[in-house]
Amino acid sequence: MSLSISIVGGGYVGLVTGACFTHLGNNVTIIEVDEKKIDSINKGVPPIFEEGLEEILLKYSGTRLFATNSYASVAECDVSIICVGTPPNPDGSSNLEYIRSAAISIGKALKDKNRYHVVTVKSTVPPGTTEKVVIPEVLKNSERKSDNIGFCMNPEFLREGRAIEDFLHPDRIVIGSSDERAEGILKDLYSPLQAPVIITSLTAAEMIKYTSNSFLATKISFSNEIGNICKKLGIDVYDVMKGAGLDHRIGPHFLNAGAGFGGSCFPKDVSALISLAESVGEKPKLLHAVIEVNEIQPLKMLELVHSRIGDLKSKRIAVLGLAFKDNTDDIRDSRSIPVIKGLIKEGVDVIAYDPMAMSHMQKLFPAISYADSIETALNNADACLIMTEWPLFSQLDEEFSLMKQPPVILEGRRMIKRPDVEGICW
Ligand code: UDX
Repeated sequence: MSLSISIVGGGYVGLVTGACFTHLGNNVTIIEVDEKKIDSINKGVPPIFEEGLEEILLKYSGTRLFATNSYASVAECDVSIICVGTPPNPDGSSNLEYIRSAAISIGKALKDKNRYHVVTVKSTVPPGTTEKVVIPEVLKNSERKSDNIGFCMNPEFLREGRAIEDFLHPDRIVIGSSDERAEGILKDLYSPLQAPVIITSLTAAEMIKYTSNSFLATKISFSNEIGNICKKLGIDVYDVMKGAGLDHRIGPHFLNAGAGFGGSCFPKDVSALISLAESVGEKPKLLHAVIEVNEIQPLKMLELVHSRIGDLKSKRIAVLGLAFKDNTDDIRDSRSIPVIKGLIKEGVDVIAYDPMAMSHMQKLFPAISYADSIETALNNADACLIMTEWPLFSQLDEEFSLMKQPPVILEGRRMIKRPDVEGICW
């Protein structure tokens, strides 16, 4: 069955969702405010890097996939999906301004439509947002009754860099819904995918997203705490987590100790859950600790470099890896940011290298040097800090002979197999 879908927001989630639903045989219009993005999508050029996205855009842009700044398509389609951002407020809570304005615009666009329509929220929103913000705004502005518009909450679990693969091969599909008809339409939309479908309330669907991301972040901070203890005891934390992770109740994934988590989701979602908990009078001690461990972890890289080369003033230090993880040019909340800040503060001559993220980091730290190759970064360096799990770093060996000898190689991610390498917690 092919449906017509409008997606509000052409960012990373909206664009990947739109591309994948087109790939599954539907007609998709992405509603976006940024004219550059609209132009780029319509030309089949991805405005972001995401593996497999370019192929889909090239195949369908202009035929079954369009981008526009107008909400006119909403009245013609079966389903609209809200994929706008929910950036953090200064207190960590989610800013719902874009959600509200998307709901108002969808409502207005539905005013003259009589056919049944499903409005779905895919953005990560605090529990209660679909019921308290989206439903009332859509119904008020469309002047229609709730039996003529259905509402769903359908969170995404996409990893950056692997989002197309995650969309097409999900572990599960979560659908929170207001009525069976809306739920049935969403189930049809996902029917080409092989995955268990969890049907639940709107609020539970919203909470599942925060719970999943907070649990994954907890696994990482837990591994880092165990790693810090293991290092002091002279035990290999990677062996320990492998042994622990093979217990099916624990699971082998997300136990890689190191510099901690960054990105657009984990830090923001854990903080939003803390703020939500506190707003209802709960004191989430564990979640606070997850953030605290994550803030301290990269600073340990600075302690390590001090312990190895003493005063850092005017030392030349190579930072390999700027993206918050491999396979992306995204530097949001990257663990290399506090490390570079600390190095600059101590008067270090920082020379950075990343296969994809250098132009973004250049905007944040214009005064440090950026190398066009790993060799240039390592040349004559007093120390080298590895901050991102780029697979190409695991090939490095001979290159370290370019550094001052013996080389001081410090890892925030376990990548290099050499006896003279010291890790943040190994
Ligand atoms: C995450 C979730 O995985 C995804 O389901 C959600 O929709 C969005 O947030 P993403 O932010 O793209 O995805 O990255 P992910 O691959 O999960 O890694 C997040 C961070 O954790 C990275 O900085 C990574 O380096 C770090 N990490 C991951 C660890 O430090 N150790 C691990 O074992 C795994």
